[in-house]
Amino acid sequence: MVAMSVSDRAGLPRVLSLAQPTADSLHLGNFLGALRQWVPLQDDHDAFYGVADLHALTVEAEPAVRVDRSLRSAAQMLAAGVDPQRSTVFLQSHVPEHTQLMWVLATMTGFGQASRMTQFKDKSARFGADATNVGLFTYPVLMAADILLYQADRVPVGEDQRQHLELTRDLAVRFNGRHGTTFVVPEPHILPSVGRIADLADPSAKMSKTSSSPSGIVELLDEPKVNIKKIRSAVTDSEREIEFDEERKPGVANLLTILSALTGTSVEVLVKELAGRGYGDLKGAVADAVTAFATPYRERTLELMGERTELQAILADGADRARAVASATVAEVYRKIGLVQPRI
Ligand code: TRP
Repeated sequence: MVAMSVSDRAGLPRVLSLAQPTADSLHLGNFLGALRQWVPLQDDHDAFYGVADLHALTVEAEPAVRVDRSLRSAAQMLAAGVDPQRSTVFLQSHVPEHTQLMWVLATMTGFGQASRMTQFKDKSARFGADATNVGLFTYPVLMAADILLYQADRVPVGEDQRQHLELTRDLAVRFNGRHGTTFVVPEPHILPSVGRIADLADPSAKMSKTSSSPSGIVELLDEPKVNIKKIRSAVTDSEREIEFDEERKPGVANLLTILSALTGTSVEVLVKELAGRGYGDLKGAVADAVTAFATPYRERTLELMGERTELQAILADGADRARAVASATVAEVYRKIGLVQPRI
């Protein structure tokens, strides 16, 4: 297929997603849960993919670390196959309309509804009241603004973002009901089979930067041999048969899920292919699949990080394209809610 230029993409359904730059490397759970879906969606969508650097401010980090992580995040999106010719790739903070729309939406969000967000409840319980900032509380409202600004039809995210998407839909419906149709009501796009990747060392828990131990998490920018070792040491069970049973054999089920997601072969077919083989063979296949993907991904990311001028030029272009859409939405919203236009 001939690559379409940006202007040809009008009329395609719009897809939008952002990823938080809170780590030095994406881990396998982030990648399979969200970013992996971004690449094929570019083929038949007008895609907007962003780095949620404003969301990341809810977590403490040194300024220089933030800069590095934001750029690495963008580089990893590109390394994964997001094509800046076809998709709009940008940093959230380069588009001031995100915080402008967020304020309007915050005035339409019930305190009760915001208080019921399970991710906020989990995070605030973990950090304690004194370490919980107001930004964490309003985080889902900023996310709603991210989505509604671009009139996104579809939002590819991991299962853990489902409730935030419900809030976004509620806000869109509420605004449209009060002020006339303004926002597209977005659909979640959650791949059910890879909704959840477990910790390799504790398969009852999600693979997560904040809760997994280093041995349970596959950091995609680590040297391949580090990850091979972690996969080889993954916790399974005391049986021998390779079967997909999340309740009884969560470790094996997790390895099968990872293998299936990376190879595109269904779990049923994998189980048939691996019949009579041992857990060592399964781990070997997973290690090979991860290495085949992560090796070029890592190389491309490091290469982009070495070409900072080029990387920033891509992001500046993305910000211009994003602002063209976002500023039109904010202007319409401001007018409809009764804010006076600066010029008649
Ligand atoms: N909250 C999302 C996450 O942690 C990241 C995010 C921010 C996002 N804004 C978004 C995802 C808009 C989709 C759409 O995964």
